[in-house]
Amino acid sequence: MSASRIRVGVIGAGNIGNVHLAGFVKETELCEVVGVTDTFLPLAKSRAEQYGIAKVYESPEEMIASPDIDAVVICVPNAFHAPLAVSAMEAGKHVLLEKPMGISADAARGIVRTQEKTGMTLMVAHQMRWEPLALQIKEQVDKGELGRIYTAKAGWYRRKGIPGWGTWFTKMSEAGGGPLIDIGVHMLDLSLHLMGSPKPVAVSGATYSEFGPNRKGIGTWGKPNWDGYYDVEDLATAFIRMEDGSSLTLEVSWAVHMDTDNTPFIHLMGTEGGVALHGSKGKFLTEKFDQPLEVELNAPTNDAGSRTRLTQHFLDCVQNGKKPLTDVMTGFTNNLILGAIYESSRTGNEVKLDWSY
Ligand SMILES: NC(=O)c1ccc[n+]([C@@H]2O[C@H](COP(=O)([O-])OP(=O)(O)OC[C@H]3O[C@@H](n4cnc5c(N)ncnc54)[C@H](O)[C@@H]3O)[C@@H](O)[C@H]2O)c1
Repeated sequence: MSASRIRVGVIGAGNIGNVHLAGFVKETELCEVVGVTDTFLPLAKSRAEQYGIAKVYESPEEMIASPDIDAVVICVPNAFHAPLAVSAMEAGKHVLLEKPMGISADAARGIVRTQEKTGMTLMVAHQMRWEPLALQIKEQVDKGELGRIYTAKAGWYRRKGIPGWGTWFTKMSEAGGGPLIDIGVHMLDLSLHLMGSPKPVAVSGATYSEFGPNRKGIGTWGKPNWDGYYDVEDLATAFIRMEDGSSLTLEVSWAVHMDTDNTPFIHLMGTEGGVALHGSKGKFLTEKFDQPLEVELNAPTNDAGSRTRLTQHFLDCVQNGKKPLTDVMTGFTNNLILGAIYESSRTGNEVKLDWSY
């Protein structure tokens, strides 16, 4: 691209669309947010007023066809990720796509093929990779401080946190799943990244739906629609085997009777040391002089924030033709594993991953 500012359009002005709008409008040197759209146009109009955005597009199709847009940020329910990302790339737009990349592995396959065909930039919004402690830990892992990471355990147990009961969040056809695809995808993505991106080969999993169908475990994210329905899981547990022999245990819930502090966690277990990441707190664990030794890891104060770094990384990739840290293969890997967990739960068997696309 030329050195001019990237012209950005935002598709979907709901909760996370609002977060992206706030982030992109701040990057005045790198980009200009020229338009916003949402199937609920009054919402798009109010966001445009709030952020001083010149144009409200009547539809995503109108925005994608517009010659005034270089890149779109897609912040809509999961079912629409692939159709919109594919048509945007085919129309020559770069894409920042909310997680999960696709609603399913097949949807992700379509995105991978289109990205390879068009060569447009596609990045998946996994902001947790840009958290300050995640950055510190990755640096130490890459330096070999943990030795060989042979296993990891990650999860996020919400005690009472079903989002938007009866909205798209709790419908299989629009979300593709429950907490596994919603918050589990973050923990999966970050764990694999911190483990050094070993190649996953097989997955075993089980999912349960014990709260949602009974209208229990309702959280505060999104407004419930009691005329809607709930047909996704509310807890998932899985075991993922890698080609190099390492493994990952993943456990997530939107609702559970368990003594949990609702905080995402990752434990990396290496031959020379381990790391425990618990929300914004971290610890390095090793053994010296025959004694267990722990070092507290602290995030810097006055940090710019993970979302700012994510936004800037996307704009840098678009401007300078760089490969995003969370590219299509990242999204495909995550979708393959998530799909295999659901399949394993249905069939009761371990599922080998099918990398074809
Ligand atoms: N990265 C994160 O931490 C994070 C956090 C929350 C949500 N998300 C993801 O962001 C996406 C949106 O989630 P949300 O919480 O903002 O949902 P939301 O329901 O608050 O907002 C979605 C918006 O999309 C609009 N919409 C629906 N279909 C559309 C279409 N085809 N074209 C244009 N607009 C459409 C809706 O009217 C709504 O305003 C989901 O994929 C979700 O997984 C990511």
